[in-house]
This record gives sequence, structure tokens and C-alpha cells, in this order.
Amino acid sequence: MSPRERLIIALDLASIEAAEQLVLRIGEAANFYKIGMELVYAGGLPLVERLVGEGKKVFLDLKLHDIPNTVERATAQIARLGASFLTVHAYPQTMKAAVAGAAGSHLKLLGVTALTSMNDKDLMEAGYASGVETTVVHRARQAKSRGVAGLILSPREVRMVRGVVGNRLILVTPGIRPKGVGAGDQKRVMTPAEAIAAGADHIVVGRPVTEAADPKAAAAAIIADVEQALAA
Ligand code: C5P
Repeated sequence: MSPRERLIIALDLASIEAAEQLVLRIGEAANFYKIGMELVYAGGLPLVERLVGEGKKVFLDLKLHDIPNTVERATAQIARLGASFLTVHAYPQTMKAAVAGAAGSHLKLLGVTALTSMNDKDLMEAGYASGVETTVVHRARQAKSRGVAGLILSPREVRMVRGVVGNRLILVTPGIRPKGVGAGDQKRVMTPAEAIAAGADHIVVGRPVTEAADPKAAAAAIIADVEQALAA
């Protein structure tokens, strides 16, 4: 996998037009984009097919979770759009159903282990018996046997989870901040190079690119950082 393919830019923008303009400005500097609920609910699904048609790769971050029949059928519909990745919550039933729905397509499923906005106290409050680390490791083990292709997790957990799942799962991490860029609302950040060195396959980067004065240069700098980590 090339360093360029390891960068996934989160198109967290309010309109399809803004997203398309950004992709145009970035040009060939990057090739992988994440489209989330905000853009999808603003009518962004056709953008998935347009980007795929232009030879770009798309990560649909829809975090599915419902009864198995609904998850399976929804995943089968989504698989027709041509996206590369789709997120589902990493519950055994949900992962199994999504895997069945994606069968025969190129869509890879990523399990969301625990939302990075949740700490130990939040999980307990929601009725969980264990904290973040135990929950993430438990879910990573289950993901391995439920057929999903990979996991979404915080950069802080990458090394530990890599130790549990080996090289069998694709590990994708948000919470990335290049050196000298403010963390904003992200609490546990790593630089692109640090996340790759810890064992991440892909990094998801939003505002450091979307809010940069020169998004193309920002993306190129991140890819250069990734390249250095891979060379080291
Ligand atoms: O702007 P920033 O680089 O913080 O964007 C990170 C992206 O990754 C956002 O789209 C955010 O919703 C997503 N994400 C995250 N933490 C998670 C899962 C997804 O930051 N646990």
C-alpha cells in the first residue's frame, strides 16, 4: 500500500458543493475520502458514486447498528455504491449480519470498537461492566472471528490491539494531528508518523486538511510524514 493510500481525508463539510470543491483542490495529492452522516443526510450518497467513478476510494462512515435483518439488507444496498469501507458498531450480531450483506462485493467492513468520545465512566453509565481498554480488546477479539476486515480505534489503542489481532485486521485511526496543528476537540491525538509507527494501516484526518489555507499542501505534508515513518 502506498503512503498516499494510507491517508483518508474526512469530508466533514456542510454541503456537497463544498466537499466537491475540496476534492478538486486536493487533486492528485490524495485519493481516499471519508463521507459521514452529515454529508449523507445532506444528500451526499450520489457523491460516493461520483468519487468512485473518478477513480477515488471512499470510506462510508455510517456506523450501522440494528437488528440483523435490517443491517444485512442495508449493507447489501450500500455495497452497490462502490465504497471501499463501511463502519458498523462492533457488536457480534451486527458484524455478522453486515458481513453477510456485503458478501460477493468489494465492500470491506470496519467495526467501531468504542467511540473515542467515551471514557470508562461513560461506558459504565451506559451499562457496560468494563472500561474502555477491556471493551476494545474484547471487541477486537470478536471482530477477528466475525469476518469484518478491520477496526476503527483511537491511536492510543493501536499498539495494544495490533498485539491482539496481529496482521489479520486493517486498523484505521482518527485523532490525528500533524505537529504544530491544534488538537481542537480531539483529546488523545498522535501525529501521522506516530500512528503509523504504532501499527495503523490508515489514518483519518479531517480539519487539519479541510481547514488548512492550502489543503493540497497539508495533505502532501501528511503523506510525507507517513512516508518517513514507513521508511524508519
Ligand atoms: O477533524 P478531525 O481530524 O478531528 O476528524 C476526525 C474524523 O474522524 C471525524 O470525521 C470524526 O467524526 C471521525 N471519528 C473520530 N473518532 C472516532 C470515530 C470517528 O474522530 N472514534
